[in-house]
Amino acid sequence: MAPVPRQHITTAKIAEHVQRLGELYPPIRLDAVDRTIKNPDLVKRRFGHVIDYLARVELEVDRNVLELLCLLPDVDAINKTFYADVWRPQEIQHGLILDRLQTDLGHAPAQPHLEVSFKIKILGALASLKPIQDIARLLYYLTGASTERQAVLAYNSINDGLREIGENAISETIIAPIKQQEPGHFAFYQMSATAMIQDRVLRPWQLFLTRVLREKSYNLVGTNAMPQYKADMGGVLVDLAIDRDLSGYAREIGRVESRLLWADKQGLEFPPYILKALRESVDLYRERLERGLMPDALSASRV
Ligand SMILES: [Fe+2]
Ligand SMILES: [Fe+2]
Repeated sequence: MAPVPRQHITTAKIAEHVQRLGELYPPIRLDAVDRTIKNPDLVKRRFGHVIDYLARVELEVDRNVLELLCLLPDVDAINKTFYADVWRPQEIQHGLILDRLQTDLGHAPAQPHLEVSFKIKILGALASLKPIQDIARLLYYLTGASTERQAVLAYNSINDGLREIGENAISETIIAPIKQQEPGHFAFYQMSATAMIQDRVLRPWQLFLTRVLREKSYNLVGTNAMPQYKADMGGVLVDLAIDRDLSGYAREIGRVESRLLWADKQGLEFPPYILKALRESVDLYRERLERGLMPDALSASRV
């Protein structure tokens, strides 16, 4: 397998990146936010569902930390500093701020899914074996890169939309500061995954198994392999008009793994499982609409 490193990623570079993120971006304070909304009905109609979705996903960071501890029992100092001092504190604030925004819009508070799945527990049990833990680590970084990229794209799109309709307060004091913090998360996972491939941490059989597991377990951000969340994600894709070009979006969110895992498949624009997951989400959302079960009605029923 021939990865295409542009620049060698060293442990020191990743550590510097983590330190810089911590210094540049302290967690956003709840009282630094201006929640003035000029036209709540319009914001709710255009972005209500997307804000609900993102608030829940951001608040699920606590489960993501438990997953990390389960998959990587020998987690090193850089990863520990990243998740404990930078990533978790930032994401929790994103969740709390968005949760308050969605209750301002009259929605029910988010109900994050905080239970670690059986599949992760199984992989975690096997990860006491070093060769399996290395596979789990690469899978964890690839998941991080893809989901953080989805967050970057979603916040960019919401921010543009809010500015278009003149909702400057929440755009400038909520979405813009959140969106500023996401690319650093993406870069951490991208650098960490790239370093593993460049340093040839995995043997061919481990890379083969990583590809098989990735193909079988790929999930879009926040879908947790559960149909109701997949349908919710379909609604996000439709509301942000991403459904008009699913292939282009698959290329964006699959770039890191195309380069690192599938480099020997010449001409592969993105791994097919990504487009399949996107189509499945949009289909589940449309089916739900046809059955007359709107996402709002579903979230209200959880109150
Ligand atoms: Fe976030
Ligand atoms: Fe993030």
